[in-house]
Amino acid sequence: MNSNSEIILETQSLAKFVTIEGKQLDLLHNVNFTVEAGQTIAIVGSSGSGKTTLLSILAGLDLPSSGEVYLKSQPMHQLNEEQRSQVRADHVGFIFQQFLLINSLTALENVMLPAELANDKDAQALALSLLEKVGLSERVNHFPSQLSGGEQQRVAIARAFITQPDILFADEPTGNLDKNTSTYITDLLFDLNKQFGTTLVLVTHDLTLAQRCQKQVQMQDGKLSEPQLSSTEVTFSTEQTA
Ligand SMILES: Nc1ncnc2c1ncn2[C@@H]1O[C@H](COP(=O)(O)OP(=O)(O)OP(=O)(O)O)[C@@H](O)[C@H]1O
Ligand SMILES: [Mg+2]
Repeated sequence: MNSNSEIILETQSLAKFVTIEGKQLDLLHNVNFTVEAGQTIAIVGSSGSGKTTLLSILAGLDLPSSGEVYLKSQPMHQLNEEQRSQVRADHVGFIFQQFLLINSLTALENVMLPAELANDKDAQALALSLLEKVGLSERVNHFPSQLSGGEQQRVAIARAFITQPDILFADEPTGNLDKNTSTYITDLLFDLNKQFGTTLVLVTHDLTLAQRCQKQVQMQDGKLSEPQLSSTEVTFSTEQTA
């Protein structure tokens, strides 16, 4: 897909800490991470190890306490909120559970929104074709409350791809889904990755999903390492709630 191995995302000595009741809590410690354009990467690790914290910083939603993050060569750690939001609009797609869909908008309107914000005149046609791709042609005028969890997840995936982002960040894209829906969504992510060349950075407890990625990295106590998935020493969390 990308034979020139452009580095799309890079961190150097990334750290995140918070101070609670006068005590410093290290959430991320000396994270060095490089992703090539078109690559698929899984971030695994037990609950509380810092995966969501890391993803939020990589995606430019949050700032590190120290260290550097470059997204499409932009120094995200030095940009203000408005500048980071521009980089996100130009290059980034998200599937984050905490902002899945807007309840007052239909499936179609939810998917169209990022393209409309980017003044794309083809927003509606694009949204309809993506909704067809995720198998929701019959549901375009339904509101989130009228859709199942898996259907909402598929709408979120369609929305994440509408601006044809260079890189997609997804936090537990198959969390809380049954096995069939989970397989369907995983296939969909990799199909879209193939079709658009989108880099995928996925946080997951799902071993099948992690193994389908080209690279796996493991978070443990705010530190990142690169395990061999075939190794018996790698412990995947069994705390899956679904
Ligand atoms: N703003 C914050 N203030 C204080 N502690 C925080 C904050 N954000 C996260 N934490 C703590 O940092 C640690 C890492 O949280 P994070 O959400 O990144 O974990 P995670 O690996 O995504 O876990 P899970 O698999 O359960 O989603 C946790 O102990 C969490 O309580
Ligand atoms: Mg998390």
